[in-house]
Amino acid sequence: MELPRGKSYIRLDQINQEDIDNLISRVNSCSWRQTYHIQPVSGLLNDPNGFCFYKGEYHLYYQWHPLGPFHGLKYWYHTKSTDLVNWENVGIAIKPDEYFDSHGAYSGSAVEHEGKLYLLYTGNTRDEHLVRRPYLCIALMDDEGNIIKSKKSVLDKVPDGYTEHFRDPKLWKVEDRYYAVIGAQRTDKTGCVCLLSSSDLLEWNFEGELATNLDNFGFMWECPDYFEMDGKGILVFSPQGLEAEGDFYQNIYQAGYVLGDKINLENRQLTHGDFVELDRGFDFYAPHTMNDPTGRRLMVAWMGLPEIEYPSDINGWANCLTIPRELSLRDEKIIQQPIPELQSLRKDKVEAQDELVDEKKSYEGFSGVTYELICEFEPGDALEYGIEFRVSEEEQTVIKFDATQGKVILDRTSSGKVIGSKHGTKRKCRIDGDVYKLQLFVDSSSVEIFVNDGEEAFTARIFPDIRSQDIRFFALGGRAAFKAVKWEY
Ligand code: FRU
Repeated sequence: MELPRGKSYIRLDQINQEDIDNLISRVNSCSWRQTYHIQPVSGLLNDPNGFCFYKGEYHLYYQWHPLGPFHGLKYWYHTKSTDLVNWENVGIAIKPDEYFDSHGAYSGSAVEHEGKLYLLYTGNTRDEHLVRRPYLCIALMDDEGNIIKSKKSVLDKVPDGYTEHFRDPKLWKVEDRYYAVIGAQRTDKTGCVCLLSSSDLLEWNFEGELATNLDNFGFMWECPDYFEMDGKGILVFSPQGLEAEGDFYQNIYQAGYVLGDKINLENRQLTHGDFVELDRGFDFYAPHTMNDPTGRRLMVAWMGLPEIEYPSDINGWANCLTIPRELSLRDEKIIQQPIPELQSLRKDKVEAQDELVDEKKSYEGFSGVTYELICEFEPGDALEYGIEFRVSEEEQTVIKFDATQGKVILDRTSSGKVIGSKHGTKRKCRIDGDVYKLQLFVDSSSVEIFVNDGEEAFTARIFPDIRSQDIRFFALGGRAAFKAVKWEY
């Protein structure tokens, strides 16, 4: 059978090897292939799944459609690492080959229990009229990496009051009981989260809906995640269907969190503050966290969004994951910082220091395609200051602080090939005070920017020409001083 060209549920084993090899060589010839981000060998990647530490290694799975850059039949793909930086492609973890996951092994999470890794995931099925019916499924991985799927689903029926959009269980343990939050849509087409519990991960009990104060907040909440930090309870989720509001909710779908008291499991209640977006850039969805052996809360996300086409599609692949970020709380707000392990990627280093007065300047050695750049600013009276990168005559991506508006602005209007321009080409975010630090992680087709040590993060795919490599620093309408260091990656 030939490679499918549009959405279909064709399995990998129905395709001949030659077609797959041709697809992979097309993918590998793409100049936008990433160098230090997790990306699919072919086809499309979406949500991170089952992020965990098991038997001395980090494991990170993701949603994968191997046969092309669209949302076809989904597998779980398995990667692992000892340092969170160098990831080994292990291969397929969960194949959608049973009646209860026949139309996709959808998102889920992992937890260790009695020496084995339990993967709790969503089995997606559709009948002959394409009516969707989700199941909750279990697979077990042993310490040699063998994965066995349970022959039965652990929840066969969507509970009354909810539609077929009932998926993405995220596990955690409290004393000797396991809990899972699961994304749901009520029959009145509003999104919410439900709670399940189990003593052995095999028999599950539907506890009911988690009460929040967001009763009418989008039509579906995907990929929920619950965890606690500094005595607070945090619910992360990806709501769909929010209208843009000023600088907020600019992407097709959102990803963020609410923070409050610890979850009350008895009466299934979360009292909390406002919904806060986790990232203020363009391409960030379905974040997924884990608690690592040193007690850190680590997060990765899909660096992409549903229903958006990407320029790499023509080369037979789409999307990647973000770098792992460590979460902490500052004034009851989540702070995101790149994990220090990434410093092992640092190679050639260049530095520059200057005072800019209404000008734009470039410096010896400041150019490239894959690098980390830290720039500390001493703001003067400049109206705006910032950095242009992946620059050529025609192209540039800009991150700047606009002092008049008090906003950080990421501008990909001229970044290269256009992505989802219907949703705008600039993202803005108000911050308290000035921008004193920008940290950029640039890969062949992406940038992740941490503002003021993780107070805000901006993530974006960019698709510049390979020759667009310059970096320029600027201060306009006044002066600003800066000190920058860049490491080749
Ligand atoms: C989110 C999502 C999940 C689902 C998965 C399917 O991006 O739609 O809700 O489980 O992707 O790939």
